[in-house]
Amino acid sequence: MHQLMVVKQNRPIAGQVFELVLEGDTRDITMPGQFVNISLPGFFLRRPISVCDWQENELKLIYKVVGKGTDYMSSLKTGTELDILSGLGHGFDVSLSGDAPLLVGGGVGTPPMYGLAKRLVLQGKSVNVILGFASSKDAFYVEEFDALNELYDFGCEGFEGSRPEVKVFTATVDGSLGTKGFVTDCLKEIPRYSHYYACGPIPMLKALKAAVNSRFNEASDDVKISGELSLEERMGCGFGACVGCSVMTAAGTKKVCSDGPVFDAALLFD
Ligand code: FES
Repeated sequence: MHQLMVVKQNRPIAGQVFELVLEGDTRDITMPGQFVNISLPGFFLRRPISVCDWQENELKLIYKVVGKGTDYMSSLKTGTELDILSGLGHGFDVSLSGDAPLLVGGGVGTPPMYGLAKRLVLQGKSVNVILGFASSKDAFYVEEFDALNELYDFGCEGFEGSRPEVKVFTATVDGSLGTKGFVTDCLKEIPRYSHYYACGPIPMLKALKAAVNSRFNEASDDVKISGELSLEERMGCGFGACVGCSVMTAAGTKKVCSDGPVFDAALLFD
C-alpha cells in the first residue's frame, strides 16, 4: 500500500490540468476507479488523485490545479521521489459491464474512465464514451480515448470475434467542441447501453442518473439499466480512519474513501 514512486513526467495537457507519470510498484492497484493518496512536503494532508491508468511499474495520474497542494504538484520535476499510498478505495467492476457499456466522464472525472475503457476494450467490449468539459480549452484525452480503437490489435492477438469499437462523444458547455451542452445531451446519440459508469461533479452524476432512468421509463422496458458512480469527495486519511468523507446512501452512511469512491448508482441520489 505504501510506496515510494519517482516522477517520470509531469506535463500540462489542458487549462490547469496536468498529466503525471510515476515509476514504481503498481501491484496494489487492482480496479479502474481506485485512487492514490500523495504526500507532499510541507502539506499536512495527502492529496487523493484518481488513477488514470497503470501498467507494471508505471502509474498515470491526471490532476487539476485547484489550490496550493496541486499547484505545488505542477512544479514537480522528473526524478522527484514521492511518498504514495496506492491501490486505495473500491473501483469500477468491469464484470458488470454487459455487452454495451457506457462510460461518462465530466472534467477531472474523465481520467478513471480512461483506465476503465482500456480494460473493457482488452476484454473485447465495444464502449461508448461521453466526455464533458466547460470548453475546448479544458478538454483533454479525447484523442487518447479514440486511440483505444487501435489498442485491440496489439493487446489481444489471436482473438477471433469482431474488433471492439470505441466511440467518443464530447459535450462542451460553450459549444466550442462537440455537442453544445452537457453529457446528458449526448445520450440520445447512443441507442442502447447495458450498464453505465460515470465520474464527475455531483450535479452531473445526478442529472445522468435521472436521464438514464427517465429514458428507461419512457421505453417501459422491463430491463433496468444498472450503473456505477464515482464520487469526488474531499478526504482526510483516505483509508477509512477519520470519517471525513462520509456520505448518506440508500444503504446508510458510507465512507467515500474505503466503501467507494465507486458506488452502485441505485444507492445514490434518491
Ligand atoms: Fe478518512 Fe475517508 S478520508 S475516512
